[in-house]
Amino acid sequence: MIPPPLKEIGASVQDLRTVIFTPTGKDGRLIAALLARTEILCHVADNFDDLCRFISDGAGAAIIAEEAFNGESIAPLLEVLRNQPPWSDFPVLLLTVSGRVTVESERMRKLRRPLGNTFLLERPIRPETLLSTLEIALRGRQRQYQIRDQIHQYALAQEALLRSEKLAITGRLAASIAHEINNPLEAITNLIYLMRCNPSSDQMTTLLSDAEQELARVTEITKQTLRFYREPAQPVQTDVASVLDSVIKLFRNRIVSGSISIERKILTTSPTVLSTPGELRQIFANLIGNALDAMRGGGRLLIRISELHPPAFARRSVRVSIADSGTGISPEVFPSIFEPFVTTKGETGTGLGLWVTSEIIRKNGWTIRVRSSRKPGRTGTMFSIVIPRLAQP
Ligand SMILES: Nc1ncnc2c1ncn2[C@@H]1O[C@H](COP(=O)(O)OP(=O)(O)O)[C@@H](O)[C@H]1O
Ligand SMILES: [Mg+2]
Repeated sequence: MIPPPLKEIGASVQDLRTVIFTPTGKDGRLIAALLARTEILCHVADNFDDLCRFISDGAGAAIIAEEAFNGESIAPLLEVLRNQPPWSDFPVLLLTVSGRVTVESERMRKLRRPLGNTFLLERPIRPETLLSTLEIALRGRQRQYQIRDQIHQYALAQEALLRSEKLAITGRLAASIAHEINNPLEAITNLIYLMRCNPSSDQMTTLLSDAEQELARVTEITKQTLRFYREPAQPVQTDVASVLDSVIKLFRNRIVSGSISIERKILTTSPTVLSTPGELRQIFANLIGNALDAMRGGGRLLIRISELHPPAFARRSVRVSIADSGTGISPEVFPSIFEPFVTTKGETGTGLGLWVTSEIIRKNGWTIRVRSSRKPGRTGTMFSIVIPRLAQP
């Protein structure tokens, strides 16, 4: 008869409990007694506040007598229902009074409509009718919870993917840093060998200054790398051009050995935007990495930072365009390049770069556009990102 204390109920059971609110008469207790004979847990609410609290704490359905709305403001209940998450459509079984097709019941209809997922049950109700309707409502509610769990699982999987792509990027950056450092070190080893073989050579001064230059390169690379790790995780006013430069420096070797020419145009006096430098770097590393992948036989990389102003554009923004003269994107993959795991690079691709890029862009409220051509003589791809100047004075 008496529902078990709520403390003892597990979360999923709590999710499916039924709250009963019949302010007048014995209906509430009768229904509770009926439900006590089933597996359905219930609670009889004492007042409107109690009813609303139960629904917001997590319930499967509510059974409410229509007279509950007499003279009571329905607003708090509507507020609770309005605040439901997108997956939720809370079911309400509304017990009406029989045979009252009057102005009064018309008023009830108006009250009932904003309640949403409502089942009307005319009194006196047969117990089987009440039970079977409640079961249908709870089954529907269970489906809603399944959708909730799937949404949650999806969010977790997305987070895991983002983390793994971040790791992949870190790995790739580490590899290019090692590569960049290795070149000057090899040069220094050769220079020292020359000096050792010929200690009294007149060329000693030149050899030493060459070695010094190579060492300066190593120092520059390590400084750049250390700057990455010390940078803020919170959005700050960030210089887009210097983030781009640091990415280009990391790809320097691939650019030089791949016969790629770079043209960099800054058409704004202040290329700063509100962003975490890490996120911007991740976007640029993905886009420039892809551009280099598409220009295996050499080509041109064009980077442009420009300013967009009203009235031609809705808001003052900074636009960064990264264009390459590479292969172009094939029409088959073009519509899905921003989806995860879409890659044309076989084992060497993850298909996550553009997806992560679009996630960062979506999260920050920026926009990204892509144009690509595979026409002979005019092949190439251009990605443009528009970053509104939000907190800029
Ligand atoms: N600049 C580009 N030129 C040609 N194709 C591109 C370019 N950028 C992206 N793509 C295409 O989009 C696909 C998805 O890119 P991305 O998400 O970065 O994954 P991945 O680089 O691991 O393949 C690439 O495999 C490639 O086919
Ligand atoms: Mg990529």
